[in-house]
Amino acid sequence: MVNPASPKISLAPRTTAESRSDMTEIVLPNDTNPLRKLLGGRLMHWIDMAGALAAHRHARAYVVTASVDHLDFFVSCRVGDVVVLRSQVNRAFNTSMEVGVKVFVEDYIEHTVRHVSSAYLTFVAVDAEGKRQRVPPIVPETPDDQRRYEDAARRRSIREAERDLQKQARG
Ligand SMILES: CC(C)(COP(=O)(O)OP(=O)(O)OC[C@H]1O[C@@H](n2cnc3c(N)ncnc32)[C@H](O)[C@@H]1OP(=O)(O)O)[C@@H](O)C(=O)NCCC(=O)NCCS
Repeated sequence: MVNPASPKISLAPRTTAESRSDMTEIVLPNDTNPLRKLLGGRLMHWIDMAGALAAHRHARAYVVTASVDHLDFFVSCRVGDVVVLRSQVNRAFNTSMEVGVKVFVEDYIEHTVRHVSSAYLTFVAVDAEGKRQRVPPIVPETPDDQRRYEDAARRRSIREAERDLQKQARG
């Protein structure tokens, strides 16, 4: 199927695996606070980049970040740690996609891996003029992908209800 707004972009369904991305960073002194622990803001930036990577791979278009659901930081990362950010599109809607990003820290001396953070982000596909673009449907393949696909629809309803409440509050 061809995207009517952007004929060069195919709307043929793509699998979750096609969007899956890994991004690896080493924590350098400039990424840390005075305690030599990774800055939360730096990690948020990396999460945004890792999420965009998966969204780009699925949409094959420019994307903008529409929202980030809440973020928890379970453990801290120190200078020299290796941070791995694993991302994938959980579900594609019309012009938007929910992307899940899971962050791990590897201690390559002690050979341990710990879960640092998880986040859900929504990206919207746009063209070079910033006009929204339809995105292809996603095909979840594994039972985990299927579960994330179903959960993403529930989270979207919650986000929409929250947005409606915020609109009402703004008047
Ligand atoms: C995100 C953006 C494109 C949405 O455009 P809009 O015209 O306000 O959006 P609409 O209400 O018509 O919704 C368009 C789509 O975005 C989704 N969306 C909009 N706001 C959203 C939010 N806060 N969270 C999740 N999804 C959102 C809608 O669900 C809809 O999805 P669908 O097409 O898959 O059904 C627009 O607000 C924007 O450009 N924001 C700035 C993005 C940016 O610069 N990001 C970088 C951070 S500074």
